[in-house]
Amino acid sequence: MMFSDGDPTDIEHEQVVFCFDRESGLKAIISIYSTALGPALGGTRFHPYASLEEATADSLALAKAMAYKAACAGLDFGGGKAVILGDPRRDKSEQMLRAYGRFIASLGGRYVTACDVGTYPADMDVVARECVFVTGRSPAYGGSGDSGPLTAYGVLQGMHAAAQHRWGSPDLRGKRVAVSGLGKVGRPLVGHLVAEGAAVTGADVDPARVAAVRAAHSEVREASPDEIAALPADIYAPCALGGALDASTVATLQAEIVCGGANNQLAGPSVGQHLATKGVLYAPDYVVNAGGLIQVADEYQGWSPARARARCEEIFDTTLRVLRLADAEGVAPGVAADRLAERRMQRVGRLRSILLPGNVPHPSRRL
Ligand SMILES: NC(=O)c1ccc[n+]([C@@H]2O[C@H](COP(=O)([O-])OP(=O)(O)OC[C@H]3O[C@@H](n4cnc5c(N)ncnc54)[C@H](O)[C@@H]3O)[C@@H](O)[C@H]2O)c1
Repeated sequence: MMFSDGDPTDIEHEQVVFCFDRESGLKAIISIYSTALGPALGGTRFHPYASLEEATADSLALAKAMAYKAACAGLDFGGGKAVILGDPRRDKSEQMLRAYGRFIASLGGRYVTACDVGTYPADMDVVARECVFVTGRSPAYGGSGDSGPLTAYGVLQGMHAAAQHRWGSPDLRGKRVAVSGLGKVGRPLVGHLVAEGAAVTGADVDPARVAAVRAAHSEVREASPDEIAALPADIYAPCALGGALDASTVATLQAEIVCGGANNQLAGPSVGQHLATKGVLYAPDYVVNAGGLIQVADEYQGWSPARARARCEEIFDTTLRVLRLADAEGVAPGVAADRLAERRMQRVGRLRSILLPGNVPHPSRRL
């Protein structure tokens, strides 16, 4: 939803900036949900939205999700997201991206951008010619490259934590794991699972993706994308698009744990409760898939693969904390994750109210 019910000006976000440059055709919206923990970090989505309202609604929802993801991951970043209206294959140009970079620069570091659907490291390199508040850049410019592998590594940590919580051991040996979506995240996740002795079944709408995984791991079994969620399995790992779980998928689900890399796995707010009622343990998507965000956050502060990997390993503890909090407070894990994020934004963000020398009013200031 773009706005909360009732008052259309009742927006939870700190700032929404509309950026127009007629000459280059740039129409962009930068939404900052919160800077309580630091600069609002979040990618730029380049998409042919049907209207300005649809684009605004998307940027607001995505910015909020980024704030919660960064807060749960323990990062010193707030949450934001930008959208550029247009067809990335047709409309993207140097002039447009540089105009966009100047608008980001105008925010003085309150918003830091990165890649998202429709934007790539090479685009960030162009944006960076106009402003420094950019990450997710090409390795040639000191960037960290594809974030799929680290995201997959983080999902694996979340899976270990969920296994620990459900079965009393993080060991995945012999567990049947159904992975839906064998792309930049799903494929390396399969590699980890095979290495740990799990029995993996994979599905993808693109047969080439399945073939690539089976060429690397012949023991991986193939399933149809429509049936994979209902297969007998211990863990279901959605790694394709959002909305993998709705009321009907939950009804046929056989897995005891859901833990995967996809964003927005639950088709609606009630699905988390459906899963809990059925006794399925859901490891919240934004908690376990934070590896990509951890990577670009680390890159922004001077890229260290070892440090980012170590931070990704903390996803094990965070996931366990979320699952225990859910039990303790009698709520679904998704609600517990939101509470954890909100508490950190509130408690750590509050520290900004302690006056520092730079903000002390000068004694000569006249009333
Ligand atoms: N790449 C990252 O760093 C990262 C980080 C966090 C979250 N995510 C999320 O993880 C998910 C996957 O991202 P990715 O980078 O691997 O994307 P990708 O495009 O590389 O892979 C997605 C795969 O899913 C397949 N697919 C599409 N629809 C499907 C369906 N109905 N059933 C089965 N397979 C289907 C596609 O063919 C593709 O192979 C997305 O939801 C993304 O938002 C990615």
